[in-house]
Amino acid sequence: MEHVKVPGACGTFLQAAAARPPGCRFLLRLHDRNIMPDTHQIGGITLHLSSADTTAGEWIGQTDVLRQLLACWLVVDDRDLPLTPRIVGTPGTGKTTLAVSGARCREQDLYIYQCTADTRPEDLLITPVLAENGRIAYHASPLVTAMIRGGVCVLDEGNRMSEKSWASLAPLLDHRRYVESIVAGITIPAHRDFRCAVTMNDDESTFEIPDYILSRLQPTLTPGHPSRDDEMAILQYHLPFADEQILELTVDFLQQSHSLNLDFSTRDGINLLRFALKRLAQQSDHPVSRDRAWREALEKCLGEDALDLESLAERRRRSLGGSAVPMGLGDFFFRPDDPLHPDLDDGAREDEEDFYEEEEDDFDEEDSF
Ligand SMILES: Nc1ncnc2c1ncn2[C@@H]1O[C@H](COP(=O)(O)OP(=O)(O)OP(=O)(O)O)[C@@H](O)[C@H]1O
Ligand SMILES: [Mg+2]
Repeated sequence: MEHVKVPGACGTFLQAAAARPPGCRFLLRLHDRNIMPDTHQIGGITLHLSSADTTAGEWIGQTDVLRQLLACWLVVDDRDLPLTPRIVGTPGTGKTTLAVSGARCREQDLYIYQCTADTRPEDLLITPVLAENGRIAYHASPLVTAMIRGGVCVLDEGNRMSEKSWASLAPLLDHRRYVESIVAGITIPAHRDFRCAVTMNDDESTFEIPDYILSRLQPTLTPGHPSRDDEMAILQYHLPFADEQILELTVDFLQQSHSLNLDFSTRDGINLLRFALKRLAQQSDHPVSRDRAWREALEKCLGEDALDLESLAERRRRSLGGSAVPMGLGDFFFRPDDPLHPDLDDGAREDEEDFYEEEEDDFDEEDSF
């Protein structure tokens, strides 16, 4: 069985993370890597390799989802293969951070490929570049570099990429574990230690990934919104210079937003806090109140709607209700809020009845004048 940090050890890693300067553990590894050759010969072609990513990725809280990711990348027998999971969720919920942190837990080099609608198959694999001497130099993408060096590649925002580009990865993502570069005319097998994960946003500006690719990207991991304590720890980690009260204000806001199913994320909290702290620092000669700076930051970062989450949630609920598709026979004969609607839930029916009773009372009162 492969020797890899077991999930329990990774938990220790997470606790120890706060005690050491961000990224110091990785600098050692990356220093080792610096003495690694930056070219690789294959099929008579010299490939120029990409550099590894050095950002620190500390995953705080939600240890289950990190363990699930690490399990995907385990190999439990010589005949076993690692899985390539897709990490799915709304923007700013930590999908990329989770994947980066998984790579750090395994102490492997990390390569991130940012997928876009313009990504062509050759961009994903090998790009020919005109060198100074007029010859063609072949540059390996972060993905191919990870395959050669035995690193981890995160295909970030994978569903921004078209089907054509995904097609070139089909053999890599199944038992074949290789890619074929048409431009360089070579087949590149993946190193045994190569691991991959794909992050995806569930917004509308993305492509539909074909089923034959989705079936190679399993399982689906979904980091959710963090608990109150975890969210506080995340904000403290990113903004250790922020005072307790302004952190509390932000965590209260984020937790209320999560409970109302609104899309404001931890990243939104980090950004608004940064702006509020900068505004407070800027006006040290005539100090503005903390609350005023925080509310201003909230409005400027997240818009006026964010000032009143309850109303925003109510408006969302109404607009979603308005666009709902009729599902049952009753929908053809009754309005959704009609008390005679057979599918109206009891709570709504009671509300409706209370409303009519109140209206009747009002009429009675009016009648009595
Ligand atoms: N559990 C967590 N631990 C540490 N940091 C976190 C966590 N969750 C979110 N963050 C922080 O929140 C910010 C947003 O995270 P990240 O960029 O990973 O989100 P994302 O889901 O990949 O967003 P997008 O869909 O826009 O790419 C980052 O600064 C990240 O460090
Ligand atoms: Mg991301």
